[in-house]
Amino acid sequence: MASFLYSLLFFFAILIYSTNAQNGLTIPIQRDSKTSRFYTTIQMGSNRATINALIDLGGPFLWFSCNDHISNTYNPIPCGSTKCDIAKGLGCFGCNLPPRPGCSNDTCGASPYNPFMDMLVSQGFYEDTLYTKDPLTVPEFSYSCMDKDFLEGLPSSSTGMLGLGRTNISLHKQIATKFNLPDKFSLCFPSSGTGKLSVGPGPSPDISKSLKTTPLIINPVSTYPIYVEGDPSDEYFIQVNSIRVDGKPLNVKNSYFSIDKNGVGGTKISTIQNYTALHNNIYKPFARAFTKAASNMKIKSVAAVAPFRACFSSSSIFRILSGPSVPTNDLVLPGNNVYWRINGANSMVEIDNKTTCLGFVDGGSNPRTAIVIGAHQLQENLLEFDLVSSQLRFSSSLLIQNTSCSRL
Ligand SMILES: *[C@@H]1O[C@H](CO)[C@@H](O)[C@H](O)[C@H]1NC(C)=O
Ligand SMILES: *[C@@H]1O[C@H](CO)[C@@H](O)[C@H](O)[C@H]1NC(C)=O
Ligand SMILES: *[C@@H]1O[C@H](CO)[C@@H](O)[C@H](O)[C@H]1NC(C)=O
Ligand SMILES: *[C@@H]1O[C@H](CO)[C@@H](O)[C@H](O)[C@H]1NC(C)=O
Ligand SMILES: *[C@@H]1O[C@H](CO)[C@@H](O)[C@H](O)[C@H]1NC(C)=O
Repeated sequence: MASFLYSLLFFFAILIYSTNAQNGLTIPIQRDSKTSRFYTTIQMGSNRATINALIDLGGPFLWFSCNDHISNTYNPIPCGSTKCDIAKGLGCFGCNLPPRPGCSNDTCGASPYNPFMDMLVSQGFYEDTLYTKDPLTVPEFSYSCMDKDFLEGLPSSSTGMLGLGRTNISLHKQIATKFNLPDKFSLCFPSSGTGKLSVGPGPSPDISKSLKTTPLIINPVSTYPIYVEGDPSDEYFIQVNSIRVDGKPLNVKNSYFSIDKNGVGGTKISTIQNYTALHNNIYKPFARAFTKAASNMKIKSVAAVAPFRACFSSSSIFRILSGPSVPTNDLVLPGNNVYWRINGANSMVEIDNKTTCLGFVDGGSNPRTAIVIGAHQLQENLLEFDLVSSQLRFSSSLLIQNTSCSRL
């Protein structure tokens, strides 16, 4: 009888485990109001230490401050091991202080990077169990460490960054590999309330049917501060063919829209940049066309508030379901009539009661990437990255459909 009960329990344990695994993982996304940056919450190691980690769409892996991190179940990944190859480890890391995660010898070399400080650190790769609020537990999850002095730019509650890039040790790739799931993930950044990061197939929200699709493209030259020649970028690029303001295409040289052999140009999506940055030769005609179209709608220009260059009197702007009623901006994508519409809530930034600005910034005259779509423009948009078919599916503003990330 006991053995029958035991088998039954075992059977259910397997059933529950595989049911969970099939759905992948869903974890909450919060917005830090001070930095306007987005983070999620995970637990690591035997003590299930809670870590808030900024979501870095193009980041290569998870890193966090390990100075005070205690776990009995972590292991350094040895240099020269298969796991080190998968992590693309460089060299061997060593350390003369008492052993802990972040201090060990003969360890696969990692180069965690804090983009806000432009700080690249020599560290090691470790593995430990990753837990979240989701029932799915991820054993032997590869991560790296950062010194606690190098966390500037992160929300004050966060001590790490969670990479979702095109590497073999990003969150979604480790989960897809371990649980034999398709390599897919989705993001929904909330303007208020709680958003979602889902890895794997997940329960598809109804809204999925209305998503538009565009190919994800690969930049052949790495955009990370350290790389081996021939390495492509881990970030996500899409092909924007033109930009329309109020339905009219901007007059911009085509070459900015494509990626050249040195990896310069094109369009990427970044959760690190707070506002979309446009090459100066795109920004200028864009801001001009927008201001003119706004003026046609009787929207009054006012003195600009940095970093923005085109600002308006809030009292001259009507408000509708999708935010301020302003001229629409479209990123025109390959295919028949495919575009990413950026509505008022995503195009405008309310500075105070009086002033509302066009929430795009001038990326200068020599940026590596001509268009960097930033976090403000991603808020309340559902984005599904499908690395099996190399496609991005996107919703545009959910507010238009009278829903939001916190309600999906
Ligand atoms: C936007 O990013 C810049 C550069 O990282 C930073 O200086 C600025 O404070 C950010 N703005 C907001 C509102 O978070
Ligand atoms: C690494 O090796 C050195 C030299 O053998 C030793 O002094 C040090 O304690 C070791 N570090 C750790 C973390 O074990
Ligand atoms: C991931 O691993 C596979 C198989 O080991 C390898 O072919 C591929 O190049 C790796 N991808 C990256 C981005 O390192
Ligand atoms: C903005 O409006 C609120 C109430 O509508 C008011 O309490 C606040 O003082 C106003 N702020 C400014 C800067 O005018
Ligand atoms: C939007 O949704 C909310 C809550 O679901 C509902 O109360 C409201 O009536 C809806 N508004 C419109 C314009 O459909």
